[in-house]
Amino acid sequence: MPRRIFVTSALPYANGAIHLGHLVEYIQTDIWVRFQKMQGHEVHYCCADDTHGTPVMLRAEQDGVTPENLIARMHEEHKRDFAGFHVAFDNYHTTHSPENRELCYEIYRRLQQAGYIEQRAIEQYYDPVKKLFLPDRFIKGECPKCRAKDQYGDACEACGSTYAPTDLVNPYSAISGAVPVKKQSDHYFFKLSRCAEFLKRWTRSPGTLQQEAANKLDEWFKAGLNDWDISRDAPYFGFEIPDAPGKYFYVWLDAPIGYLASFKNLCARNGASFEAYTEEVRARDEGTEMIHFIGKDILYFHALFWPAMLEQARLRKPTYIYAHGFLTVNGEKMSKSRGTFITAGSYLKQRLNPEWLRYYYAAKLGPTMEDIDLSLEDFVARVNSDLVGKYVNIASRASTFLLKHFDGKLPAAATGSANREAPAVTATGVEDEVRDAYNERDYGRAVRAIMAYADKVNQYFDANRPWDLAKRTDDHARLHRVCGEAIFAFYRMTILLKPVLPALAARAEEFLGTPGLQWHDLARRPGRIGQYQHLMTRMDAKQVQALVEANKESLQPVPQPHSQQRHAEHQEHAVDTAAAASINIDDFNKVDLRVARIVNAEHVEGADKLLKLTLDLGGETRTMFAGIKSAYDPEKLKGRLAVVVANLAPRKMKFGVSEGMVLAASGEGPGLYLLAPDSGAQPGMRVK
Ligand code: MSP
Ligand code: ZN
Repeated sequence: MPRRIFVTSALPYANGAIHLGHLVEYIQTDIWVRFQKMQGHEVHYCCADDTHGTPVMLRAEQDGVTPENLIARMHEEHKRDFAGFHVAFDNYHTTHSPENRELCYEIYRRLQQAGYIEQRAIEQYYDPVKKLFLPDRFIKGECPKCRAKDQYGDACEACGSTYAPTDLVNPYSAISGAVPVKKQSDHYFFKLSRCAEFLKRWTRSPGTLQQEAANKLDEWFKAGLNDWDISRDAPYFGFEIPDAPGKYFYVWLDAPIGYLASFKNLCARNGASFEAYTEEVRARDEGTEMIHFIGKDILYFHALFWPAMLEQARLRKPTYIYAHGFLTVNGEKMSKSRGTFITAGSYLKQRLNPEWLRYYYAAKLGPTMEDIDLSLEDFVARVNSDLVGKYVNIASRASTFLLKHFDGKLPAAATGSANREAPAVTATGVEDEVRDAYNERDYGRAVRAIMAYADKVNQYFDANRPWDLAKRTDDHARLHRVCGEAIFAFYRMTILLKPVLPALAARAEEFLGTPGLQWHDLARRPGRIGQYQHLMTRMDAKQVQALVEANKESLQPVPQPHSQQRHAEHQEHAVDTAAAASINIDDFNKVDLRVARIVNAEHVEGADKLLKLTLDLGGETRTMFAGIKSAYDPEKLKGRLAVVVANLAPRKMKFGVSEGMVLAASGEGPGLYLLAPDSGAQPGMRVK
């Protein structure tokens, strides 16, 4: 009986580009889906853009477009990126769709009827300038524990403690910089606190969650479940709540419903029965499955809120939730300054082969929530040695003899004593091992088994010395058999690797004359090969270096011939405006610009460009070295105001430590001009 499975990957936010971290999930899911389809199962793989919420609204405003405009543009970009990596959704929809609105209303109505919605007034931070309630991530201030500055409203990045936004010391709005005020408003809550018994039961039903995920849930149960705030006040980009003007569904309410909406949109086109997969009773009777692939960071939403909502709305619960870990690059968090925050778009643009990454991820992925590391050096080595050196190599070597001496024809299966030496090549144990491994999402195990098989085939080929056999006309039957068995093994490996390498498999199918290979084709044999065309090129470490360079955030100076000297002394001080990529307001806010008074300025012995400045930043005194000697007499600088970058990491220079940077303008020719605020500005004031 074929399985009937509705599969999803998490819906990526519409306000950002797809990066290699995201791709772990979409490639993981895509491999699983392709594998199940090759088994002959009915699979519907759905995804969508997650379009609602404050960040999308603000980003659109900042770009000077409507949110609808922004999400339409991102939709195209995301679709292009996924297609580029061969992620083959059956439907890629959007949460800003009529299907989603209807489903949200219907589910909300069912929750209301069941008595699971409650209205309550709460007090929250409000930005009086921007006139909106501030999500936690948009409130910043000093950490109440360690007093680190500019920390977000939910957690401190310096000491790691978590807290409520109202605990922040000297809070400010990350949008306008204004001091937020506390304001009351009515919110709608989903009564999650009443779902604990159901959730405990559901969590423990075997197979639904990975062991580590179930353990996490137990922790949350122990901490106690709070009701869930599902509404947000206008202005908000989302669906307005029925009979509640000015109130919108919180993005995390409509996002998982977006899974269903994408599927519903697909059903209208492909004739599948939506209700058979979604209504509680029908799904149980018909044995359909719903499986979510997610990252470990969004387990809370998928394993608590989502099943609880579905249960109270009498809809089917997820059959399985498969959570994966996070991607690190070279053992560290992806970083824009190191160039390891690599976008899918840049990878494709630099013309790296997307299947290299698919293969590497497959080799690294297991069924657990453990993080996976993309070691760039290992990436190159692994792809070259496994794919090019082991797999493709078999086809290229064996086909030469077959085409030259046998017109590409393959011999029939070997029998008798000849068959006895072939088992190493045609071993059937491999396919069961690989099938089970794929099924259990243990792709690393599948890849290891396939490569061990490839090793055996290469050994068999070498041990038979076909290049010698070819010279002896008396043993051409053996030459035929050896090359035929090698190609047969290559054919089988192509099937086994096809979920991971669909495009490569398509080219191999053409060469083998066996289009559209399915899993059951493992039992067949190809009859004749066509001309061999190069199947995959080797990877060059330089390509990876170029990719990393292309992803480095351009806050470094771009060297220019005429200003070499200035850069040499002033590395990070010069930013070439023409070359600067566009940044968003958060990026800008990272730069702490302050008004400062120059209390002292002096020459530095041995330095022909630098002046040593002592600055008052409103109570705090700092030393900074500035390359302005050619333009300013130190005596004339004393007492005047300047603008400085106050949060630049201190930098050790030949003449001492510079604790910030003084801003000055310069152009192509000579001439250097200090920036100065209008009169009235006081030392310590923030510049923005
Ligand atoms: N919009 C929500 C999901 C809503 S689902 C109803 C979201 N979006 S996201 O764009 O931030 O992430 C999409 C998926 O990519 C998530 O499952 C997330 O865990 C995964 N990843 C994002 N960055 C990742 C890594 N660096 N590494 C691995 N997976 C990562 O969350
Ligand atoms: Zn802290």
